[in-house]
Amino acid sequence: MGLELRVETFSEEHIEPYVRLSRVEYGDHAAVSQANHLRWKFIENPQGLSIGINLYDAGELVGRMVALPRKFLFQGKTFTAAHIVDFLVHPQNRGMESLLQLVTGLKKLSGFDLQLIMAPNPAGAAVWEKFVKMPGHFDLDVAMVPLRPAAILQSSGKLQSGKFGQLLEWPWRFLMRTANSTGAALNRIKVESKWPDPAELDQLHNLNSEDRVVGLRSAAYIEWRYRQSPVFQYNVSFLRDKGALCGYFVTRRTVYNGFDCLFVVDAFGRPELTAGEWRAASSRQVAQASADGAEMAMILGNTGCGSLAAASGMPFLTVPQRFLPRKTTVYAQWISSPGFPIRRDNFCVALGDSDVI
Ligand SMILES: CC(C)(COP(=O)(O)OP(=O)(O)OC[C@H]1O[C@@H](n2cnc3c(N)ncnc32)[C@H](O)[C@@H]1OP(=O)(O)O)[C@@H](O)C(=O)NCCC(=O)NCCS
Repeated sequence: MGLELRVETFSEEHIEPYVRLSRVEYGDHAAVSQANHLRWKFIENPQGLSIGINLYDAGELVGRMVALPRKFLFQGKTFTAAHIVDFLVHPQNRGMESLLQLVTGLKKLSGFDLQLIMAPNPAGAAVWEKFVKMPGHFDLDVAMVPLRPAAILQSSGKLQSGKFGQLLEWPWRFLMRTANSTGAALNRIKVESKWPDPAELDQLHNLNSEDRVVGLRSAAYIEWRYRQSPVFQYNVSFLRDKGALCGYFVTRRTVYNGFDCLFVVDAFGRPELTAGEWRAASSRQVAQASADGAEMAMILGNTGCGSLAAASGMPFLTVPQRFLPRKTTVYAQWISSPGFPIRRDNFCVALGDSDVI
């Protein structure tokens, strides 16, 4: 019997087959191998139910990609992207036939304005680029704070362990502390972790500038994305100016490619917040992670516009694209007529707009 394609609304009945397929590739402990993570991500999303593009072989799920709804605002209009995630084919079913079927499923999606792929790994990127020929619009930026430079150089084989490593760490730590305390001292912005009233979060997101594309960050979305995940644990700092909520800064500590990283998942706030004010917001979390032994703090996102542009200043250092081990392209294709230009200076995306990290 051949492969059977079904484009279906993701529901409780898909969780177990998804978990089984994930475990073949990622083992039992990955987030996508956990039922509660899949339920959160695909069923409880306040921006809508996800659509599974599912491939079955004799009734068993052997391939899938999922269209996760993500809403974006531009000039007062809302556009819903089918953010394509969780692309996986069982090792025994990889090849042309499965890919053709999944792409046929992709074309059957309805109710979305555009297809969007962010931060695919090399295997995914190869398929989007060479097979689907999905337009790539710009590459995400990487900005980082090396909190333990000697440890990073040692794990990449560029430095032998020993005294020289320690010598390298101390001046850097001193600089970090100075940069952080200066940033915090100069600032009138108060930073706190108390979760705001939903009305305040909704008001903040409504205040955002209209000439750029931003992901819809309603109170319900923020609550779901940063507080309800059963697996991903986030640290959220809220910024207040004379008591009024003016932004928030979100991180998640996780091991990535063998490095203990503090990822900046989101920075969102009033357009007038300065780089120094964002530094005040980030310094507490970066300093805490540094004291707890993290090796680096890292931003992966579009630092060409919006709050992430201001938040990626010192002590973060933007890594020139030519030094990055690989590019992380934003692929997108309109299903309806184009609603906004997808450019680095216009389409503000952070990890918080995706399901990654
Ligand atoms: C993504 C996937 C469905 C593609 O399946 P496929 O096209 O049938 O077959 P392959 O696995 O051979 O991969 C396609 C291409 O990616 C490359 N590739 C695969 N794994 C890779 C890896 N870990 N690193 C770099 N490149 C990789 C292959 O070399 C191939 O490129 P080529 O055509 O230039 O030789 C499949 O590789 C898969 O399920 N992988 C595991 C999950 C995954 O990585 N998903 C992508 C998430 S963004």
